[in-house]
Order: sequence, then C-alpha cells, then structure tokens
Amino acid sequence: MSNDIIKKFQKAQLLLNNNAYAEIKGNSDYDYLINELIEYIEENENDQYIITTQTIRNYQEQEKRRIHESIIENPKTREIRSKQETPYEVILDVTNKSYTDGDINDLNKYFNSRYDKLKKIIQENPEFKKINELKTTKTNIDNLQVIGMINNINNTKNGHRIIEIEDPTGTGSVIILNDNEDLINSSQTLVKDEVIGVSGSTNGTLIRADEIVHPGIQRHKIIDKDMNFSIVFISDVHIGSKQFDEDSFNRFIKWLNGNYGNQEQQDLANDVKYLVIGGDLVDGIGIYPNQEKELKIKDIYEQYAEAARLLGDITDIPIILSPGNHDATRLAEPQPALTEKYAKDLCNQKNIEMVSNPSVVNLDNIKVQIYHGRSFDDIVMALNNYTHADTDKIMQLLLEKRHLAPIYGERTPLASEFEDYLVIDDIPDVLHTGHVHINSHTKYKGVHMLNSGTFQKQTEFQKIYNIVPTCAQVPVLNHGTLQLLDFTKE
Ligand SMILES: [Fe+2]
Ligand SMILES: [Fe+2]
Repeated sequence: MSNDIIKKFQKAQLLLNNNAYAEIKGNSDYDYLINELIEYIEENENDQYIITTQTIRNYQEQEKRRIHESIIENPKTREIRSKQETPYEVILDVTNKSYTDGDINDLNKYFNSRYDKLKKIIQENPEFKKINELKTTKTNIDNLQVIGMINNINNTKNGHRIIEIEDPTGTGSVIILNDNEDLINSSQTLVKDEVIGVSGSTNGTLIRADEIVHPGIQRHKIIDKDMNFSIVFISDVHIGSKQFDEDSFNRFIKWLNGNYGNQEQQDLANDVKYLVIGGDLVDGIGIYPNQEKELKIKDIYEQYAEAARLLGDITDIPIILSPGNHDATRLAEPQPALTEKYAKDLCNQKNIEMVSNPSVVNLDNIKVQIYHGRSFDDIVMALNNYTHADTDKIMQLLLEKRHLAPIYGERTPLASEFEDYLVIDDIPDVLHTGHVHINSHTKYKGVHMLNSGTFQKQTEFQKIYNIVPTCAQVPVLNHGTLQLLDFTKE
C-alpha cells in the first residue's frame, strides 16, 4: 500500500481495507477524495474506524443528494416557466421510416432519391431549367447544361481536372482546363457522390466546364428579430467516460434551473424555452478498441440511467434529444431515435422528445436542423486544408451541397433507404452539429451554423492528435444572437 494514502488516514485515526485502498488509489484525484472522505466520516459516521468500499459508496450517495438539492429548480424560474408556452413540432424524424434490408436495388433507389431531390433544387436556377441528358452528350454540343452525381475526381499531369459524373441516362467526363484558374480553385471542394450542375460544351468525348453550380442556398430570411426567447444547444456529453466533466455539467444544469451565475446569466436562464442535445449523450461501449479503459461506467444501461438521473433535474422545458455515433442505436445514418431498450428512464421522462439523427424541429417558429456531424470526418479526409476545427467552413459546404453527408461509403455508414433523408430539403434557421468537440458559430446567408462542443475533457486519443476540445462551453441562441457560457469554473 502506498504510504502517503495510508498516512493521511492514520492521521485521522482511520484504517483502510484492501478494496477501499485500491479504489482510492485508482481515482485520478485521490488527494481530494481522501480529504472529502475524512470530512464525511467525521461529520456522518464518526463511530467508523475502518473505511470500506461501502463507506465510499455512502459518501458518493450523499454527494449526489447534496448536488441534486443545489440543482433543483429555483422557485422564481419555476414560476416564470409555469406561465410560458413552449410549442414545438417535429418536422423530420426518420425513426419509423427505415425500410432497407441492404438489397442492391435499395442502393439504386437511394441514389435515385438523392439525385432527384438535388436535381430539383439545382433546377430552381433558371439556367438549369432545361438540361441535356448525359447519354446525349456523345456528340458535339456548343452550349449544354447537365446535372450529375460525381463518381470520381482526378487531376491530369498537365494540371487539368477530370470529374466523372453520372445521371440516370449515362455517364460523362467533365474537364476543367488548367487555364481556368477560378474554376480549378473552386473545384477543390468537390467531393464524391455530391450532385452538381455543369454548363459548358462538349466535343462528344469530354464536357468542357465553363461553370459548375451547387444546389446552394438562397439568402435566408433572418429570424433573429422574431425570436423573443432563448434555445440552448449541447452535444457530446459522453456520460460514462472517465473524462466526462460532471462538475461542469452539474453547474450547467444548475444554471438552467436558475441557481447559478450572476444576475445577467440567471436572467438568460429564465429566458430559455428549449434544450437541444445533438448526439453522443453517453460514451457508449465498444465504440473504438480498448474503450473500456477510458470508461467510468462500463455498462450501457447504466450510462443511460446516469444520463436520466442528470437530465432528470430539468423538469419543465422540452429537451429535444437526437443520437450520435456513441449512442445505442443503429450506427448507419439516418440514425433512428433512442428507444426504451437502452434508454428507458429517458424515454419515460415526459419533457424529453426523442428524435432521429438527422432531424428537423420547429421550436416556436425557429426551424432547427440537427445533425450529429459524423460526415465531418469524411470531409476532412477528402479535402486538403480542412481540419476538424473548421466546422464553420464544413457546415457552409454542406449547406451549399444541400447534403449532410455527401460522401458515401467512407467512415460515415449510410443506410440505403428508399429516400435520402440526409438531403437538406428546406433551409433551416439553425444548423446544429456536434461530434468534433470544438465550438463554433457563424452565420451564412442568414443561417446560424453552430457546433456545440462537448462536456468531455481531452481524451488520450485527442492528446495524440493534438485536438483541444472546448469543454463545458455552451452556446445559447438568445433573441437571435449567440452567447457562449463557460461552466468550467466554480
Ligand atoms: Fe462526441
Ligand atoms: Fe460523435
């Protein structure tokens, strides 16, 4: 037994059994735990002189009760919320719309759906109202417009780019000449499986591109002035991980319940009508090799029970809960909502609305598109000069491509549904993502694009890749402007 641990207890005239010793030694901050335990025993169990694991459990239970008491809703907040209306509507949820069993015909249907939806959006551009079918481009045409899905992108040794595209009638090779610098530059963000419009000419073999267009978005009506309340966005809580920052999360809930922060922060809390959670609520199990070494709670049911205990203190605002790649639902996107199978207590909590990933909700006239963000990994892999910290740039690309996960068959598993639910059919007021554990917020053509960071401190994996998470910094959309609250400090 390590001497300093024993000595500290001896000084307080306490002994330790072997199991309690092992547990204390395994705690990352055991000095703090020792002081807390000694204090607890002096105040609560002063007839004890041997510390067992049961003593530690008793202390932890009391701590939980103490924290719970300090978190429960402030009466003033309760009063405000009891008079508040919190209407909402789920506009897109794919949970019960999954039909695929992996048949190859389903894959064709899936790609056809993607093509048709995106073609329709591109055709809102008058220039592409009338288009040429790719099968007709094997002759000379001086002026053509085609719409195709990208199969392949290659650079020739002379510095031209060849983009292979496909429509339901056939394929075509689009060439961007090396002297068209603007087009060469803008084509650097093209990716496989996205749908583009090309205008140019063909000599029967190659389509020479003069212009390439994306489905794109129009400047969006600004909702900011119509918003007379606040929405809180979080994601990547990773409950169950050793790195889950429970203290900060408790402070966050305490704030939401009107019991933390200065007057201004408390006023902000009283203005909140909705909480949106964008996936990775728990750390899950078996998500990556050797994950169990990083887990404090090794059982998936217990992870969700713990999540329910923590979220259970938020009682009277709607919580919109969408899953991520660490959650216990189908990994292939679109991911159905969490169910009672793993998350019974959460499903039974009446202010929680379980939705799919992605999903779209209308929160008192603010349309929020929720997407966890797994496809960011593929975008970062596919494009030069993009890192995981560039979420604002990536979200802008996704809005222009009108697709949340354009690249098929890489790290983001996509289910070949009959309909492609990852197409951004309608422009949202807010695009909320997570997954990369780094906050960001910008506006693009009137759309708030925000990534909500994490409540997980830096993991071993992130240390290796020098990824610095923004832990416990929570974005709040307040009357159309973004505020970032920091819960890392007492
Ligand atoms: Fe995450
Ligand atoms: Fe994730």
